[in-house]
Amino acid sequence: MAKTRAAGQTKFLLDEAALPQRWYNIRADMPTAPQPVLHPGTGEPVGPDDLAPLFPMELIGQEVSEEAEIAIPDEVLEIYSLWRPTPLFRALRLEEAIGTRSRIFYKYEGVSPPGSHKPNTAVAQAFYNKREGRTRLSTETGAGQWGSALAFACKLIGLECKVYMVKISYEQKPNRRSLIQAWGAEIVPSPSVETQSGRAILGEHPDSPGSLGIAISEAVEDAAGREDTAYSLGSVLNHVLLHQTVIGQEALAQMELAGAFPDVVIGCVGGGSNFAGLAFPFLREKIAGREIDVLACEPAACPTLTRGLFAYDFGDTSKLTPLVPMHTLGHDFVPAPIHAGGLRYHGVAPLISQLVLDGLIRADAYLQNDVFASAVLFAGTEGILPAPEAAHAIHGTLQAAKAADEAGEERTILFNLSGHGHFDMGAYDNYFAGKLEDVALDEDEMSRALGAIEGLPSPA
Ligand SMILES: Cc1ncc(COP(=O)(O)O)c(C=O)c1O
Repeated sequence: MAKTRAAGQTKFLLDEAALPQRWYNIRADMPTAPQPVLHPGTGEPVGPDDLAPLFPMELIGQEVSEEAEIAIPDEVLEIYSLWRPTPLFRALRLEEAIGTRSRIFYKYEGVSPPGSHKPNTAVAQAFYNKREGRTRLSTETGAGQWGSALAFACKLIGLECKVYMVKISYEQKPNRRSLIQAWGAEIVPSPSVETQSGRAILGEHPDSPGSLGIAISEAVEDAAGREDTAYSLGSVLNHVLLHQTVIGQEALAQMELAGAFPDVVIGCVGGGSNFAGLAFPFLREKIAGREIDVLACEPAACPTLTRGLFAYDFGDTSKLTPLVPMHTLGHDFVPAPIHAGGLRYHGVAPLISQLVLDGLIRADAYLQNDVFASAVLFAGTEGILPAPEAAHAIHGTLQAAKAADEAGEERTILFNLSGHGHFDMGAYDNYFAGKLEDVALDEDEMSRALGAIEGLPSPA
């Protein structure tokens, strides 16, 4: 340890003045343009008018923009400065514990007030909605990280907020509920009796644990039914991934401070926003010719990228959204109630899907007991107790370090530690009690769920 420590610094910090002033839009550089989102009724690409009831025009513009860089408004930068730039660490103690020859770095997004990367887009979305006259936002949340981030952003910007929280997480994470309430938002378990979508699902499955797909249906229905309300999504959409790119831009500068550049960049993927946030600015370098292995980590219980189909599918269970070209497990797929609630989504961001198809990103899937073992090893060396979602990236990192050691190579690995796990102690309790089930999605259930997309248009 003494030798490594002498050779290396632990934290790489940027001044507030180094906060990125622009978001990076990967659409400008992608070798294959992503396919358009389609209107389910006409099969034609959706236009701004179709989206206007749900989103402010500025975000609709960002969704289709091909500008490589988009300026971050001053008001958003001011709020970002409460916690950004976030630190980048060299995981010296973890390296020592596993005896790897590789260097491991991580970007830590858990220093934001809600505890994850999610406010990077929540603040921007609340800002544009307020500027265009909306007074209320509705949204879904899985693990509760996104709901708390949007509640926080709405509180600071001055909007009302309604959160539909996936029922299993609502029960597993009562403290996230309280945090959301502390920031002034209203919260209900989903499926709820407050929307037609929720009532229909409860009618068929009274004990439904909920899913992100169901909660999205409820939040979209809420926003579509009220003039004062817009819908806010915490992942998947192009503008959400765009807002997260402050992470990777900072990390590029911090790796430079460390005198290093990653051979491997790793993140966990639910809808894909934290992964994109770190990876897209590095993919810009990869597209320009640098060699980087970019790895997306997902749960074996919800293996969207590793086993899903690339197809047009709805973003929600009740088929209220447009058709999105993405890797999907089928819009009525309800993932097993694993503890990484934020990774229980049937689809993934279209930008990430296209980059996977183009061979610029690869994916791997893990079982939850292995993921928690890696989380506990990380907590015992680096000190930070990770969110179960982020622990997938830690597990992927340990696999990458092992593979490098086996190949006799020294690699530089960078991963995104997207959030802390202080509100996930119930999950850790279950892990320590040996009560976590390892679920890999079964083939029959996958075929059944994929049946739901038969008859939808096929991507070109
Ligand atoms: C800490 C954390 N990491 C990752 C995710 C997954 O979302 P995304 O893939 O959009 O980053 C979530 C979602 O709730 C989360 O809370």
